[in-house]
Amino acid sequence: MKIVYADKLGFCFGVNEALTKIDTVIEKEKGKNIFMLGMIVHNKTVIDDLLEKGIKIINNNNNIENLNSNDIVIIRAHGVSKEIYKLLDEKRVKYYDATCIFVKRSREILVKKEKEGYQIIFIGDRDHPEVKGIVSFGKNVIIYKDFEDMKNNIKELNKKYFIIAQTTLNKNMYLDIIEYRKKYLLNSEIADTVCGATYERQKAVEKLAKIVDIVIIVGGHNSSNTKKLYNVSKNINKSSYHIERIEEIKKEWFENCETVGITAGASTPEKVIKQVEKYIKEAI
Ligand code: F3S
Repeated sequence: MKIVYADKLGFCFGVNEALTKIDTVIEKEKGKNIFMLGMIVHNKTVIDDLLEKGIKIINNNNNIENLNSNDIVIIRAHGVSKEIYKLLDEKRVKYYDATCIFVKRSREILVKKEKEGYQIIFIGDRDHPEVKGIVSFGKNVIIYKDFEDMKNNIKELNKKYFIIAQTTLNKNMYLDIIEYRKKYLLNSEIADTVCGATYERQKAVEKLAKIVDIVIIVGGHNSSNTKKLYNVSKNINKSSYHIERIEEIKKEWFENCETVGITAGASTPEKVIKQVEKYIKEAI
């Protein structure tokens, strides 16, 4: 069986930066309790490795209340809400911010455009940490989960809207939104906030899905960008499967299969991608 990799896959710039930052913090803050605030990236293998290095994980405001001023916190790549920053400052907890620069950029655009008098529209998953974090910096943000949701529910087309999208939004959907804005939202503007890593990986899986029999998409089940890769792939190739670990791979997927395509989300470590390749070569 031939294995073909997507041209672009795996760790993105933001995840690499966040993990490098953690290593620096571990070195610099030896002997102290170091906590990640939520999953630093949405990948269980990465998190397990960090837990093994002694980092602890905390999840909510109550946990922050219990920290003391000697503890160290690392803020995840997706960012956190304004309230959490405030809480950390109040508790005088030292923190290192591993929020990806593209997430910070969306946040800054939102604050600036709201000050300029725009009604902000955010397109994305309201339950995702990135969206919760960015939106918390605004005063009155309208959230639509996708283009359909926006089209069906938007009112007052002449209003001065400013549209921002989640960094992992499907780029084709983003292009549809641009077209819609040009036609119907004549007083509105839009920022290009879909991150390059997301776009490159979506384009690469699009190409891959057309030339292989089946596509394996490796990444956390809670990883937004991996889910988007799966959706892009599935639209082109019905035999697309999203897995997080090799145990999820089923032999029957590979019946009559000659070529297997592999791609991986932006928070999937290379070692997991290699494990998948090894497993397919040896066990299927
Ligand atoms: Fe940042 Fe894009 Fe990665 S927003 S964390 S570079 S997927």
